[in-house]
Amino acid sequence: MSVLVVDTDPGLDDAHALAMALTPTAARPAPPVAAVCTVAGNVDVGRVTANARWLLGAYGVGDVPVHRGASGPLAGPRVDAAEIHGADGLGGVPRHRVPDVPETAGAAALALIDAARRHPGETTVVALGPLTNLALAVRLEPRLPELVDRVVVMGGAIDGRGNLTMNAEFNTGADPAAADLVFAEFSRVTLISWETTMAHPFTPGEFAGFFAGDARPARVLDEVVRHRFAADPAYANRPSFLRPDPLAMAVALDPSIVTRAETHRIYVGYGPGLDRGLTVVDWLDRYDDRPAVQIVLEVDRPRLLDLLRI
Ligand code: BDR
Ligand code: CA
Repeated sequence: MSVLVVDTDPGLDDAHALAMALTPTAARPAPPVAAVCTVAGNVDVGRVTANARWLLGAYGVGDVPVHRGASGPLAGPRVDAAEIHGADGLGGVPRHRVPDVPETAGAAALALIDAARRHPGETTVVALGPLTNLALAVRLEPRLPELVDRVVVMGGAIDGRGNLTMNAEFNTGADPAAADLVFAEFSRVTLISWETTMAHPFTPGEFAGFFAGDARPARVLDEVVRHRFAADPAYANRPSFLRPDPLAMAVALDPSIVTRAETHRIYVGYGPGLDRGLTVVDWLDRYDDRPAVQIVLEVDRPRLLDLLRI
């Protein structure tokens, strides 16, 4: 991989993942980011786009194009996660004046296609929100799966333990038809599921340590987290913390941290009933009608901690 496209709905943990992608450390490469694409998810597309622009300005990396993406799922009602991320998507952090990062013209789906055409075989798409933009993009450019090197997805509840509904993970449940299309069409997908996220919890001390550095992005993220904590002491007093999108970004930036994975086909239910967003893994490899997905189950924890430190 030599070029990244980050497709995201910032989002507290998306903000952390963006900082990882955009700022290198001794432990972490920061490949060129061709585009940051936004998508309605944690909050509406206007807010997540404003958040992406503000974060890039605050991090001091304003030269990356930000493209506004889909305003809702391919079909069905839009859901959000404002109860987790705050009404503004970033925990109510005060928006200090930062260098303005303009929104770049051109829909996110087109920017994804453009990046893949400009860097054939070299583009990794890191999808940290609902998969609407990728689904639109592959319908517009059916060669997209051959053009990209890899798609790393944070999404899916592979054992049926959801966080949006009792059996659906948020990103998959927010646009299940898009998720199913992506798993059907793309041949090199790596998945970081909700269960794999839960298998990698962080102590409060480890969590605080991610933002303890002096670099500008660390100071910004520390303030974001403090405001989220102040708004909700129950959240602040959790015994452990999860970081789904940063975990996916860590795997995208350094795939060699994966210590256990399985490769199977994945299907997502997108009807209106109980199976909406349900992620079904063909663990026994009974079917052969779509490409198999690399399902990450475990990563090297010490190296993960290094990658997550801003
Ligand atoms: C996913 O849902 C969102 O709320 C997070 O940003 C993450 O992408 C976790 O299920
Ligand atoms: Ca997200």
